[in-house]
Amino acid sequence: NWTTGNVIEEQVAAIREQVGDRRAICGLSGGVDSAVAAALVQKAIGSQLTCVYVDHGLMRKGETEQVEKDFVAATGVQLKVVDAEERFLKALAGVSDPEEKRKIIGREFIRVFEQAQAEIIADQGPAVEFLVQGTLYPDVVESGGGTGTANIKSHHNVGGLPEDLEFKLIEPLRKLFKDEVRMVGQELGLPDEIVQRQPFPGPGLGIRIVGEVTKERLDLLREADAIAREELTAAGLDRDIWQCPVVLLADVRSVGVQGDGRTYGHPIVLRPVSSEDAMTADWSRLPYDVLARISTRITNEVRDVNRVVLDVTSKPPGTIEWE
Ligand code: XMP
Repeated sequence: NWTTGNVIEEQVAAIREQVGDRRAICGLSGGVDSAVAAALVQKAIGSQLTCVYVDHGLMRKGETEQVEKDFVAATGVQLKVVDAEERFLKALAGVSDPEEKRKIIGREFIRVFEQAQAEIIADQGPAVEFLVQGTLYPDVVESGGGTGTANIKSHHNVGGLPEDLEFKLIEPLRKLFKDEVRMVGQELGLPDEIVQRQPFPGPGLGIRIVGEVTKERLDLLREADAIAREELTAAGLDRDIWQCPVVLLADVRSVGVQGDGRTYGHPIVLRPVSSEDAMTADWSRLPYDVLARISTRITNEVRDVNRVVLDVTSKPPGTIEWE
């Protein structure tokens, strides 16, 4: 019979057997799957595991700290953080085409990760033979992967990392569904903010700025996004919605009146959706008072934003993300 306790025990034994006295590397994305996979492997082999977190500067407010502090505190994992914000911003400078952005972010990510990998091997020697991946059962079933959204946008995530054939894979979540992964994560003592996190795209806020990605725009979007998340959580709506992208229309301006003057600022789009699997989605009918609070706070608290709009498009025809 299936219990999270059994799954953990079984996997820990299997991983110990597979790895022996050798070493493993795991990329952390801030998402549920890589966090739970890493925690499981950590439980099995402890300091023989080294995790790598690439900070591309495109994360939401507080997310990098969650990995650096809360995840490490909960698991005791050995973590190498690579601060690559400048590198990503430089590579993205002047680019506003969505596909081009995705490709640049994916490419830089692999480069930075491979460099970190090489450093770990230089440090720890050839015993580093394994790469941990948070592959879930639905990923296995869909393997070959060419269905649905993958055709429309070039997806990037930590699961799709270096096709480095020299590494042997450890995939402790291969038999699990998302809700089971969350239960295992909870049982392993991971913080709720990580275990219950809603889906967030690998390219991060880089594909939630319509227009060029700059540090200033990212900071602005981070503030708006944090307000929306805070209010949705306070209203108890996290379980009702699948996710709520917050998008900055950086290339659009509109006239507003704030304080005692005319403003010419940018709109923020709220894109709350309900979905089962992200292949199709409907826009969430959020309570008006919650939308009102989010709108008032964003226009009051975020500089250069003078309008908040609601996306009422289902998928199809709209995708969940704007880019
Ligand atoms: P779309 O916009 O295609 O998004 O309707 C479907 C789901 O996938 C997420 N998404 C991504 N996840 N890497 C990811 O790991 C990506 O490149 C990526 N692009 C979109 C999106 O947030 C939604 O949940």
